[in-house]
Parts: sequence; structure tokens; C-alpha cells
Amino acid sequence: MSVHKSLKHDAAELHVSGTARYIDDIPVPAGTLHLAFGTATIARGQVTSMDLADVVAADGVVRVWSADDLPTDCDCSPSIGDEPMLSKGSVHFMGQPLFLVAATSHLAARKAARLGKITYSEETPILTVDEAMAANSRFEDGPVVWTKGDAPTAIADAPHVVEDTFDLGGQEHFYLEGQAALVFPQEGGDLTVHSSTQHPTEIQHKVAHALHIPMHSVKVEVRRMGGGFGGKESQGNYLAVACAVVASALNKPAKMRYDRDDDMVITGKRHDFKISYRAGFDETGKLLGVDFSHLVRCGWSADLSLPVGDRAMLHADNAYNLPHARIESHRLKTNTQSNTAYRGFGGPQGIVGIERVMDHIAHVLGKDPLDVRKVNFYLPPGGEEQTTPYGQVIEDSVIHDLVDQLETSSDYAARKAAIADWNAKNPVIKKGIALTPVKFGISFTLTHLNQAGALVHVYQDGSIAMNHGGTEMGQGLFQKVAQVAASGFGVPVEMVRITATDTAKVPNTSATAASSGADLNGMAVKIACDTIRERMAEKLAELHQAAPEDVIFADGKVRIGGEEMPFAKAAEICYVNRVSLSSTGFYKTPKITWDRVNGTGRPFFYFAYGAACSEVAIDTLTGEYRILRADVLHDCGASLNPALDKGQIEGAFVQGAGWLTTEELVWDAKGRLRTHAPSTYKIPAASDMPEIFNVALYENENAEDTIYRSKAVGEPPFNHGISVWLALSDAIATCGSDYPSLDAPATPERVLMATSKLQT
Ligand code: MTE
Ligand code: MOS
Repeated sequence: MSVHKSLKHDAAELHVSGTARYIDDIPVPAGTLHLAFGTATIARGQVTSMDLADVVAADGVVRVWSADDLPTDCDCSPSIGDEPMLSKGSVHFMGQPLFLVAATSHLAARKAARLGKITYSEETPILTVDEAMAANSRFEDGPVVWTKGDAPTAIADAPHVVEDTFDLGGQEHFYLEGQAALVFPQEGGDLTVHSSTQHPTEIQHKVAHALHIPMHSVKVEVRRMGGGFGGKESQGNYLAVACAVVASALNKPAKMRYDRDDDMVITGKRHDFKISYRAGFDETGKLLGVDFSHLVRCGWSADLSLPVGDRAMLHADNAYNLPHARIESHRLKTNTQSNTAYRGFGGPQGIVGIERVMDHIAHVLGKDPLDVRKVNFYLPPGGEEQTTPYGQVIEDSVIHDLVDQLETSSDYAARKAAIADWNAKNPVIKKGIALTPVKFGISFTLTHLNQAGALVHVYQDGSIAMNHGGTEMGQGLFQKVAQVAASGFGVPVEMVRITATDTAKVPNTSATAASSGADLNGMAVKIACDTIRERMAEKLAELHQAAPEDVIFADGKVRIGGEEMPFAKAAEICYVNRVSLSSTGFYKTPKITWDRVNGTGRPFFYFAYGAACSEVAIDTLTGEYRILRADVLHDCGASLNPALDKGQIEGAFVQGAGWLTTEELVWDAKGRLRTHAPSTYKIPAASDMPEIFNVALYENENAEDTIYRSKAVGEPPFNHGISVWLALSDAIATCGSDYPSLDAPATPERVLMATSKLQT
């Protein structure tokens, strides 16, 4: 079987040789128009006049649209319909599209877009969560509050209490391929859309809606993205809708890609939070009650902020049993980019909260933080029944065993002692270590999204073409699902052709998100393959006077009794005998239920677990630091492809560490994003990888019946970056006796400030 094997990514050669095709590599016909948005230069107010004469007259410009020229609102919102593609007069953030230019070249369009003469009546923007709270600027009537037991009383009665507030920054996706779309007009007003999107059906839906045409008139194709990380769940709508408007108005192909600066200024990012906590605990560090407040900066439109806020709340427990909990979440509306999905979808923000609590408790009690964590872990199956704050019974916890294994393999205790020794002897360079766990819920919290379709064809020469609703963004989904298809027919994976995601082949798909790409699409493909294989077995059995169960598909061959033939021969025989060799497959996740209003149910089919141990060294004179070593042990169930999963874990760790260390977004007092290019926004480079980096997969099988008992891997290991942030905090703590106050990202400046504060 080709599942569970470390086969290389199907596009590995194409990626490293630079021949993988992205949207910008698709050859375009002569006459293709190139688009750019003219954007707002204030963060909040009204447009009082818009003089576009110079834009229209600029070199190469073919046509210019303002909101009034559009056929409809051209709404680009993935949720509540609050995002007209072009502002109708109100400005909600600096960078908001006000007009659209179509020109003969990319550069001509961009140059012309700068020439608009726009006047505004400016209002004071609401930029921070504190300003939003003061102005009661929010997306819901009030905060969402979920409770379990009676946290205030439990905290009041507890022998010890800690409380604090800290800022947790956002994060730019920094996908290598920026947002892009290319639309080809077809006969009769139909459109073919190429979009760099995690959500082809959403693009299809938004384009159809904007032009008032049925979805069947719009075909969206996605071969791959150069990274999405959640930033292409909804943020690509603008480009695709803009291209569709132009292509349908002028009957010419239209292409749009954001330059990196425009991409950073226009599109939403990870939600930044302000987290406050109050936690009561006993002498052993066991939590008795905890109260969290999340101030969530959503930006100007709703986008996906409400489910992101929910997922943060759903991960406020991480791997810990919270006997009494109260979680309050404010989804605040600000005059900044509309924050959106980003790897973990709010989960990491929730997890950072409780991990900070664990660390703080340990500091107060003078205990090893790992011991405090252990007394609070959810119990393994078979023990007393424990439920999450939202009432889901924990049935699959492996956190005790997994952390024990990592504690041993990372040599935690000995290194902890060696670090204490080092710190006693060295006044300037201080070291720190932290071992943090992860429990991450798998499934979309919007229950109906947990469905997937597939289309599989077996050709008469035995080659197989496979299609499903998932999209490839580098994570290796296509390879994994191809391995599933190959296993379905017992053939080598080379016999399976992976084709681009296409809304005309598989309809009504969900975004490739929530890490569930392989879970959902793998199952749908398996079901389609099973259907075809059963049909083939039935016919072959009939021809050989055997039972269908006796027809065995393995090693590229089909065996019936003593006879054996290549799979290709079997396919040919079935074709000649008029067996349908094509099938759809459909899968929906079982067992899940969720009442969002009350915050109760079983939103997750299962949980993925993991843990990371990071060691850092800081320079207390400059605040600079390095990750000296990181050990990660992660649970992928019975991995579909251990090599790809390891790649996901490594990348996620580094991305998570970047979020909490060097990736800082800065807006000035006017609401201008000052960090809008790699010159000012620092993502981790290869040199920021831990000097020693040991990543291993935890030996496990999914307790639930998932595709070959594997587990989703895309987002959960992002949270391992938290161990770096807490290791930095551990190093800082050696400089004084108080618990350090440390916001995230812990840039060198922040590390220096936190250190200096403790020393004075
Ligand atoms: N890995 C790569 N290389 N590029 C990406 O854009 N996105 C992440 C994760 N891993 C991403 C990635 C996010 S946000 C999600 S939800 C999952 O992949 C989506 O893919 P999956 O469901 O197939 O795991
Ligand atoms: Mo991932 S944030 O669910 O696209």
C-alpha cells in the first residue's frame, strides 16, 4: 500500500527547479488587461470628492471603475456581506480599495492607480482594542461568554491567585506567491477563473453573485498556491471579482496580482489579541478556576472573525482540565485591515493564554512549569470522565505519554539543571527552556463545512485520474490523497494523475482549511475508489466464476484464484465488458454537533496532540537571542506520509516561533501599516532555525475512524512555537525575582525591556 510511506511531494521536482506553474506563469493571450486598485490614504472618514481624470488619461489605461460603475455591490465578504469591492464613500481602513484600473500592463495599472485625486472628510480612526472597547465598536451586541461551573467562586476560594494582561500580536501570512487571479471570458458570458485560493467554491460563488449569473456559468480552477496559510480563504475574493467584472465588461482576459506591499497593506492578517487572565490554584499548581478575557482585533469587516474568536475560546483549555472556567470574547471592530484566517484560526491565541497561566503559576509556586502542566493534563482514556469547558468528553488524550516521551528524548531534566548552572555562572548570556503541550481540535466548527466530494476515473489503460475539492498550497495534500487513491486500487502511486482543483468537476466544496484537507478529501477519494474497485471485482469475479471478495488488488496486479493480471489488463477487461470506471465519492464527518450560542457540544471529531521543548539564549545587554535547540514530538495518528508530515511540523514550528518572536506589525497613529515589506517585517530566515532541531512523530493511531487512522497535521504543530516564547520568558526571569511581563512578539527590543524592568 502506498499510504503510510514517505513518498516525496508530487511537485517536488517542479518546485525546486522553478517549473511549477503559478497564476503568474500562465501564458496570457495578447490583449489581456492588468488590474490595480486605487486605495484609501486615510483610515477612517468619507470620500468627499474623487477626481480620476489623470488616472483615465494615464499611459496604457483602458478603463477605470469606481463603485458607481460596478454592476452590483460586488460584495467580497465571506460571511455577512459587509465588503463591497470598492468603497461606496465610507473609508474603513488605510488601504481600502476605492477604484479599479484596467490597463495594458501590470506596471501601467499600478502607476495609474496612484494618480487619483481624492479628498476626504477625516474622522479619528479606532485602531486599538482599547479604543474599540471605549467606543463599544464591535461586531456583536456584546461579548460572547461561555462558562463551565462557577469560575469566580472557585478563584475567590482558591489558596493562590495569579492575574495579568498581555498583548499578543498579529501575523502577516507572507505566502511566497502573493494574491493573484486571472479570468478568461468564455462564450455566452461564462467565465473561467484561475485564482490563488484555498476556497474555489467561494470564488465561484462571489463571482457569480457579483455578476448576477448562476454558479454554473463560472468555473474556477486552482492547480496550486505558493502558500496560503489561511490568507487565501477569503482574501482572494477581491482580485477574482475585479477580474471577472473587467473580463465580462470588456470581453477580454483580465489579470490581477498584488505587489507585496499592496498585499500587506490591503489584506487581513492573524488577529492580534489582548488577553487577561485570573486563575486560582492550589499548592500543587492544580487549577481550580480560571477566567479569561479575549479582546480580539477584527479590523474593519466581519470576514471570518467570529469563528476565529470562537476557536480561540475553544482552545482556552489547551491540554488541561479546567474544572471551572469562564471565557469572555470581544470581537472588536477597528479601522485596520480585516483580520482573517491564519494557521490555527484563533486556536493558537487561545492556547497562548493558558500556557502563560501555567508558566505564571509555576513561577509563583517556585515549581518546574512542566510539573504544573502535568498535574493539570487531561487524563488518558479509561480514567475519570473529563470534559472540555464546552462539554466535549475527552476520549483520546495521549498527552501524558507523549510528554513523558519528549521529556526523556529531549533530556529535559539534565538540560534544565545545566541551564541553571550556566545562568549562575554567566551574568550576560542567560539561557531558558520550556516544554509546552498542544491539543488541537479537528473539524470545522461550522458543522456543515465538514463534507467533501471527489471524482475518480480509471482509464482503459489502467491509469487513474483523481480530483477532489481540496487545494494544494505546498502542504502535500495532493500527494497524500494520490497515495490514498493508489492504495484503493493496489497500484503504485505513479499510476495516479493529480489534476487541478476544478469547481466543474467537484461542486460545493469547503475551503481547504481547518487542517482537514486530507481527512475530508482523502475519505471522499477512498469512497470513490472503493466504488469503482467493487464494480471491477464484481465483473472480474463473474468472468472467472469466483466471488468478488476473492478478487485481490495489490502490487499493481489483480489476482483471482490462481490467476493474475496487471491492473491495466483488468481495467481493459472491465471497459470491454461495459463496467463504469468513473465514480464520485462523498464524505461527511460523523459524530459532530455544535451549539455556538451556548458554546456546548462536540465541535471536534478528535484532537491532535503534540509537545515541544525549546532552549534559547538571550543577550541581556542587547535583547538579541537564539533558539539553541528544539525537540518536537507530534501526533499524526498513523501518518499518511511521515516525510510530508515532518515537513509540516518543522514549517509550523518555525512559523509559530516567528509569530511570537520577530514578526511585528506596526501601525502608526494614523492607522498606516508601517511594516509592509520584508525590509520592515521580519519573518524567520533559514538562519533562524534552531541550531539543533529534532522532530519526530508520536507512534499512534487515530481512535476515530479517519482515513487510514491518520490525523490532520496542518495547523496543530504551529503551536509548538509557544515553547520558544516561554523559553525566552524563562531566560528573562533569571534576571530578577518577579514574573516577567512579556508581550508577544518578543522582539529583541521587548526582551531587552522585560529584562531591564526586572533588573531595576
Ligand atoms: N503548509 C504549506 N506548505 N503551505 C500552506 O499554505 N497552510 C496551513 C497548513 N500547512 C499551509 C501549510 C493551513 S492554515 C492549513 S488549514 C492547512 O495546511 C491546510 O491544508 P490541509 O487541510 O491539507 O492540512
Ligand atoms: Mo487554515 S487557517 O484553516 O487555512
